[in-house]
Amino acid sequence: MRQQIVAGNWKMNKTLEEGLELTKGILEKVEKPKGLVVIAPPLTHLKEIGKMIKVRKYFHLAAQNCHHEPKGAYTGEVAADMVASVGAEFVIIGHSERRQYFKEKNDVLAAKVNACIARGMRPIFCCGEPLHIREVDTHVGYVAKQLKAGLFHLKEEDFRKVVIAYEPIWAIGTGRTASAQQAQDMHLAIRVLVAKKYGKAIADDTTILYGGSCNAQNAQELFSQPDVDGGLIGGASLKAEDFATIIAALK
Ligand code: PGA
Repeated sequence: MRQQIVAGNWKMNKTLEEGLELTKGILEKVEKPKGLVVIAPPLTHLKEIGKMIKVRKYFHLAAQNCHHEPKGAYTGEVAADMVASVGAEFVIIGHSERRQYFKEKNDVLAAKVNACIARGMRPIFCCGEPLHIREVDTHVGYVAKQLKAGLFHLKEEDFRKVVIAYEPIWAIGTGRTASAQQAQDMHLAIRVLVAKKYGKAIADDTTILYGGSCNAQNAQELFSQPDVDGGLIGGASLKAEDFATIIAALK
């Protein structure tokens, strides 16, 4: 069965103390979500926040990144094994900010996906096009390339663990959301791509999240689309009230 998920990507925000306060607020406001709630705080907070959310079986912990090598001389980096050892169950991989600012290319992203799965965690694999690609209407082909290069090497049983997040870059942190119809069209296109590679049953079971200026006001309309299975939320995940409203919008 396809899972509905709301994941909060805090990015580089909140000290540990602020993060614990935010988590407390979220736990207070969220009752019986209709799907999974995933919290992705900065790496330094994983263990403490993981302890706090453990009391709720619907809450899960994600790392925002991990390195693809198992260990070694990579100053400042953290391996999949390490984030798993402090409780991460998911890892966000291929976020457009990682692709843009840290120059992460498809081969590295595919290796990160492998590292994450090898440690028993689930990748939240991000894809999405920049504005100039959307404007010339080649976004489906653009995203197809990202999926083929980053994910479609997986064997069936491993692909089943993957969550896909479609995040059009022009909508991230800009206040410019994709319309519900634009999101639905792209999510359906992604599901068709997955079906071509892995078959209809797996495609039907694949969770595809929308990300990009999803907020308390527009979540319901986005999530009501048949192929939108929840959201990857940036800015609005930093306010307990807004994040709880978004979670309540799951279908
Ligand atoms: P945003 O970010 O909700 O602030 O647009 C989404 C994301 O980057 O995951």
